Amino acid sequence: MDFMRQEEENMKRKFNLSDDDYKLIERSTLSKVIDFIDKTDVIKTPILLFDAEKMIRNAKLIGSGIERAQVYYAVKANDNIDILEKLSKIDLGFEIASDGELAKLEKLNVEGLRIITSNPVKTPLFIEKAYEYGVKYFAFDSEAEIDKLVKYAPKCSVYVRLIVPNEGSEWPLSKKFGVEVDDALSLLIKAKKAGLNPIGMTFHVGSQCTNINNWESALNKAGILWAKAVEAGINMRCLNIGGGYPIVYTKSVVHIENIEARINTLIKRLFPNDIDIYMEPGRAMVGDAGVFVTSIIGHAQRSGNAWCYIDVGVFNGLMESVGGIKYSYIAQGHERDGQFSSWTLTGPSCDSFDVIDKDVKLKEPQVGDLILILSAGAYTLPYASEFNGFKIPQVVFV
Ligand SMILES: Cc1ncc(COP(=O)(O)O)c(C=O)c1O
Repeated sequence: MDFMRQEEENMKRKFNLSDDDYKLIERSTLSKVIDFIDKTDVIKTPILLFDAEKMIRNAKLIGSGIERAQVYYAVKANDNIDILEKLSKIDLGFEIASDGELAKLEKLNVEGLRIITSNPVKTPLFIEKAYEYGVKYFAFDSEAEIDKLVKYAPKCSVYVRLIVPNEGSEWPLSKKFGVEVDDALSLLIKAKKAGLNPIGMTFHVGSQCTNINNWESALNKAGILWAKAVEAGINMRCLNIGGGYPIVYTKSVVHIENIEARINTLIKRLFPNDIDIYMEPGRAMVGDAGVFVTSIIGHAQRSGNAWCYIDVGVFNGLMESVGGIKYSYIAQGHERDGQFSSWTLTGPSCDSFDVIDKDVKLKEPQVGDLILILSAGAYTLPYASEFNGFKIPQVVFV
């Protein structure tokens, strides 16, 4: 029996892994998670096990298929300071939205020139601090923002947020921000008249975007705005294509290589060949590098429904589950006699809103069983609170 096979057998014994599980998470990440569990006498759940090597591989892949792409990691996806430090060491840029995120980068001595902010509506305090720190690039999509930028970041470079289709994105981002082409154009002109330095545009196709056509619609629209802005005398030089790359949660998704090949072709066709291309991946950088290890803390049958309670819930890490993200689980106990049946999975808080998922297949769950929640590295901990006294999971690097 070769080593890898043996390792797999060991894993199967503990967690009864199936071939399907390996379709949901990279083999080496799962192997590190299982190793950690095997080696640790008492696992204090909940924890987020994080495979930094996987994240670095993601970082090297993202942007590699787009000519001249400069990558700014969207800090909101996971702002853990050690994760930021590791990304900083490979010279990545960062996209931030607040003075809190800026403070973390300041701690790591990330220079202002490696930071951009694409939050179209910022607090005056943040604009002032970011500008002082040396951040030069700011998004906007309203006249009120121009006024603030003139006051707190005079002469800064700005790019306008364009509204683009978000169909097929599991986490749409199209309503709160963005303007249509003609409004975007007039905002760029107004920004220039106000003494700012308009340089381009940004958009977001929606997070966990599984519809590759969204990039095509967005780039076509951006191309129209670009041409109009150049005609109006704006010195356009930056196209920021935002984030949106999807990761595997419960099913396979279009590969980043394929998305980037399409984006690259479109950019070549629609834009001048010497402009800067910015991108702001969040989820795809860290999402599939993290696995929650949680414990079952209770189970009950109520009015014909089976309820299983675990120590991570909507409030302390799984907020996205209420907005449409569905996770995959690997539970202990599959070797037991009995049938798989459907369970409603809930978090630990004493609040009925704290329901993570329905129809989760478990076999005779018992208090103390571990449940792994895959692809939990993005938009989990930054959203988490200690509501009701339940701890936010610690990050452990494996
Ligand atoms: C302005 C901006 N940039 C980048 C991102 C990262 O997007 P994603 O995590 O889908 O890659 C977001 C996510 O909400 C965003 O709002």
